[in-house]
Amino acid sequence: MQLRTAQMKFPSMNVGAGVKERNWKIKNSSETKAPGRKLQLRTTQMKFPSMNVGAEVKERNWNRRKKMRTYLVTGGAGFIGSNYIHYMFGKYGDSIRIINVDLLTYAGNLENLKDVAGRDNYTFVKADICDKEAISKIFAENDIDRVVHFAAESHVDRSIREPEVFVRTNVLGTAVMLNCARAAWELPDGSYRENKKFLHVSTDEVYGSLPEDETAFFYETTPYAPHSPYSASKASSDLLVKSYMDTYHFPANITNCSNNYGPYQFPEKFIPLVINNALQGEKLPVYGDGKNVRDWLYVEDHAKAIDMVQEQGRLFETYNIGGHNEKQNIEIIQIILETLQEMLSDDDPRKALVTKDLISYVEDRKGHDRRYAIAPDKIKKEIGWYPETMFKDGIRRTIQWYFEHEEWMKNVTGGDYQKYYAEMYKN
Ligand code: NAD
Ligand code: DAU
Repeated sequence: MQLRTAQMKFPSMNVGAGVKERNWKIKNSSETKAPGRKLQLRTTQMKFPSMNVGAEVKERNWNRRKKMRTYLVTGGAGFIGSNYIHYMFGKYGDSIRIINVDLLTYAGNLENLKDVAGRDNYTFVKADICDKEAISKIFAENDIDRVVHFAAESHVDRSIREPEVFVRTNVLGTAVMLNCARAAWELPDGSYRENKKFLHVSTDEVYGSLPEDETAFFYETTPYAPHSPYSASKASSDLLVKSYMDTYHFPANITNCSNNYGPYQFPEKFIPLVINNALQGEKLPVYGDGKNVRDWLYVEDHAKAIDMVQEQGRLFETYNIGGHNEKQNIEIIQIILETLQEMLSDDDPRKALVTKDLISYVEDRKGHDRRYAIAPDKIKKEIGWYPETMFKDGIRRTIQWYFEHEEWMKNVTGGDYQKYYAEMYKN
């Protein structure tokens, strides 16, 4: 069978060479030996001088892929998912393979991944996580080792206007992902194939709202009390994952993270919206009294935490991830305005636009949670993760990224966004 496969892949290779190749693969498999890449190439050339270089490279990639850890990332074309994929290729390079499944809703953007699109060890599949045939096909055709499940409807304001799509994607979509992974990984005796893991990316919003008292935090043991349709749908998806762990001993983790900021964030969310509006001299809408508190985390720190939880965390556990960086919304606006003033050169015409006069108090969000604050004690103690990026550095890096990606911003704020914005901020 193996011989046939090798022959199919390399029809010009004679049978003797096929046998030699098979023996060579066994002798040099990663289990027994992990030669450097250059060394491996030289060895192959010595053994099969007649093999052409193109075929040899394909064979090498194919061999490597067979034993590579394979990730199925859902929602990888969104904000956190695309940052995670960049982080993972930065860390693991060619030693992992990532399959990104994304429906490309208004929030998904392949431009976020153009740096990695040409990689040999990256595949994009456009599909809906609610489509169980499409998802089980991916599992059937690939030996998936890790699922990292980001795909969701993620914006609270949209959930207040249109809750059903949140229930469909976040609840049904998670159920489909769980079912397909379980079907692919579970053995007849109810145990699971070795070293398979599912990580469900969730939010601190499932815990509801904290009082303004600065000693109150969200812990992993805090009871769920979601308020918005978004957080209720995420809480439901978390409970589904928990039920799979309890009922089927399904190998999973849940992470509940605080507010992220950084490159590639869609400007319906507070920080990129403020940066974009300020640079255009447009009003900065502040909900209510502007004193709601969020705990901001730089997105790369989140990506790192997800990887650490999946590789070093205890299975079946939940880990809270947070920035220890609580700020009122009005403080965030002030910091952004000051940072923009520092970063814009004196001859940049936008400098004159960026002033406090842009701040505009608008009608409050319905059911607006007052304060979020994560206690990341467990992840720090058990895994050694902590938020590394100070807000003043993270916000500079974020603003710098938006300076350098004006075209990206122009593209995502085209037609549909304008309609959304006009409707959302008409009061
Ligand atoms: P996002 O809205 O930027 O991206 C969501 C991605 O999911 C998009 O690429 C979209 O196309 C895709 N998607 C939506 N519906 C889909 C479907 N039916 N099938 C396949 N793909 C679909 O979201 P984000 O901010 O990157 O958040 C990612 C995850 O992290 C979400 O699960 C969210 O709940 C969670 N989270 C976000 C934050 C935050 O601050 N943004 C904080 C904590 C947790
Ligand atoms: O806490 C994690 C959550 O953070 C994630 O689960 C969500 O996916 C993510 O969207 C985010 O939810 P928030 O509702 O906290 O983020 P948002 O950027 O929408 O708003 C941040 C705060 O700013 C919130 O208190 C509402 C306020 N706000 C927001 C917008 C868009 C304004 O005052 N004006 C605005 O125009």
